[in-house]
Amino acid sequence: MSQRHTPHTITVGLGRRRYDVVIGRGGMQQIGRHLQSLDCSGHVGIVTNRTVQRFYGASVSKAIVQAGFTCHMICIPDGESAKTLRWVSYVLDALVKHRFERQSVLVALGGGVIGDLTGFAASMYLRGIPFIQVPTTLVAQVDSSVGGKTGVNHPRGKNLIGAYYQPARVLSDTRAFHTLPGREWRAGVAEVIKYGVIADSRFFAWLEKRLDHLLAMREEDVQKVVKRCCEIKARVVARDEREAGLRRILNYGHTIGHALESLGRYRTHLHGEAVAIGMVYEAMLACHLALCSRGVVNRQRALIERAGLPVRMPSHSFSKLWEALCHDKKVVRGTVYCVLPTAIGSVKVMPLNRQVVQRWYARCHEAWP
Ligand SMILES: NC(=O)c1ccc[n+]([C@@H]2O[C@H](COP(=O)([O-])OP(=O)(O)OC[C@H]3O[C@@H](n4cnc5c(N)ncnc54)[C@H](O)[C@@H]3O)[C@@H](O)[C@H]2O)c1
Ligand SMILES: [Zn+2]
Repeated sequence: MSQRHTPHTITVGLGRRRYDVVIGRGGMQQIGRHLQSLDCSGHVGIVTNRTVQRFYGASVSKAIVQAGFTCHMICIPDGESAKTLRWVSYVLDALVKHRFERQSVLVALGGGVIGDLTGFAASMYLRGIPFIQVPTTLVAQVDSSVGGKTGVNHPRGKNLIGAYYQPARVLSDTRAFHTLPGREWRAGVAEVIKYGVIADSRFFAWLEKRLDHLLAMREEDVQKVVKRCCEIKARVVARDEREAGLRRILNYGHTIGHALESLGRYRTHLHGEAVAIGMVYEAMLACHLALCSRGVVNRQRALIERAGLPVRMPSHSFSKLWEALCHDKKVVRGTVYCVLPTAIGSVKVMPLNRQVVQRWYARCHEAWP
C-alpha cells in the first residue's frame, strides 16, 4: 500500500464514548476488521438506499459476511423526504424481525439522511445498540457523521425529533466520492469553506489556493480536506457535545441557510447550497454591524462563487424571511442567535432582534450589488 493510502485516524475525545474517525481510500472494505475490533457479534444491519446500495451494497455486505457476521440489508427510499419517523419505524421493524440483540450493530451506509436516521434508530432499539457511520457524501464525511446529532424531520420542521447518540466508529472512504453527482460534491464544499471561516484562516487561505484541485477531486487534497474538517469538528464536539456554547459556531451560515431551505420547501436548494448563500448573507450582516471588514465578505463570496455555488438569495419579503428565521431551533423568545464572522477564522454568536435584521435586509442588496 502506498503512503498516501494509509488511513488517518482522528479521535473524538468523549471519555467513555470516545471513538475514531478513520479516513482513507478503500476504508469501506475494512469494515469487517472494525466490527471485530468493536466487540460486536451476530447480526449487522446495513441501512442504506437504492442509489448507494447499487454502488457499494454488495462489497460492504461481502466484507461483513467474510468477517463472520450475519448481514441484513435494510433499504429506505432516497432523499430528505424519507427522513421521517415512519422510516425509522421501518428500520426498527426489521431489527425486531431479525432478532437483533445488544451486541448487534447498525451500519449507516450513505449520506447525511441515512446517517441521521440510522443513528436515531440505533439509539432507540433496546435503548441503544452500537452503530458505525460509513458516510458516502462530502457533507456526511466532513460534517454529519461526526458529532452524534441524530434524528429525523417532522412535517412542521427539520430535525425536530432526535437524540445525541455517538457512533462507535466512522469509516470515511474517500473513494465513494467518485460516484457522487457534481452538484452534491459542490454542496459539500460549502460546509468545507465554513470550517475555514469559523476556525482556521490558514485552511481558508489554502482553499483559496487549492480550490481547483479540490473541485477536480485530487485525492491528496480531498483527504487533507476531510481530515482538517473532521479535526475541527472533533475538537469542537469534544468540548461541547450538547451545544451549550462553542458547538454553536458550527451553525455558521445555517440560520439564514435553514430559513432559505424551508422557504424553498427543501426543493430549491440542496442543504450545502443554502448554507453557501447563508454564509454570504450572514457575513454581510456582520459587516453591516461593523463586526468585520468588507474584505471578509468579499473573500468568502469569491471562494463560494468559484466553487460553483449560489451566492444570491431568491427574493423573499422580509416578513416571510423573519418568520422562517424564527422557526429555527436557535431562536429564544423572538431573538435569533446568529453566528457572525469577525475575521476569516473567527466568529461570535450574536443575539439579533427583528428591527436589526430588518434594517440590514432593506439595504443589503444596495450595499452589495
Ligand atoms: N447530524 C448532523 O450533524 C448533520 C450535519 C449536516 C447535515 N446533516 C443532515 O444531512 C442531510 C444531508 O446530507 P447529504 O448532503 O449527504 O444528503 P443525502 O444523504 O440526501 O445524499 C445526497 C444524495 O447523494 C446520494 N449519494 C450518497 N452517497 C453517494 C455516492 N457515494 N455516490 C452517489 N450518490 C450518492 C444519496 O442517495 C442522495 O441522493 C440532511 O438531512 C441534514 O439535515 C446532519
Ligand atoms: Zn450543514
